[in-house]
Amino acid sequence: MEQYSSKVMEYFAHPRNVGEIKDADGIGNVGNPVCGDIMRLYIKVNKKGIITNAKFKTFGCGAAIATSSMVTEMVKGKNIEEALKISNRAVAEALGGLPKIKMHCSVLAEEALRYAIDDYYKKKGLPSTIKEITSSHVHEHGSEEEGK
Ligand code: FES
Repeated sequence: MEQYSSKVMEYFAHPRNVGEIKDADGIGNVGNPVCGDIMRLYIKVNKKGIITNAKFKTFGCGAAIATSSMVTEMVKGKNIEEALKISNRAVAEALGGLPKIKMHCSVLAEEALRYAIDDYYKKKGLPSTIKEITSSHVHEHGSEEEGK
């Protein structure tokens, strides 16, 4: 069985940005119906469209906690367009990789971010980007049974 990287263990043991943002500009709620893990991600966006703060709450496995923590670190200082390009693979790579059977946990982090951005768009009266997310979600979860 593949081991977790030391960075995953570090982020699991000492997750950054745990908590909530009371006056968040966007909130993303996602869950994995297979394992039952849930994640909520909050973003604060300034007038220039830069994400100035991000926090999360995750009820889930160690990889879900580590990836949600890492994604909150990665988005800070980025504009919305840049943040939308953050893939679950990029998050996993930033953590020094994840065991193959835990890659699906990083999908949850990507989705939480995208849903938070979508919520921000909705509040601004802008069109949703959620359709493409849903299709990638279905695709990415195709092989997650093996991780159980
Ligand atoms: Fe559920 Fe990792 S997100 S097992």
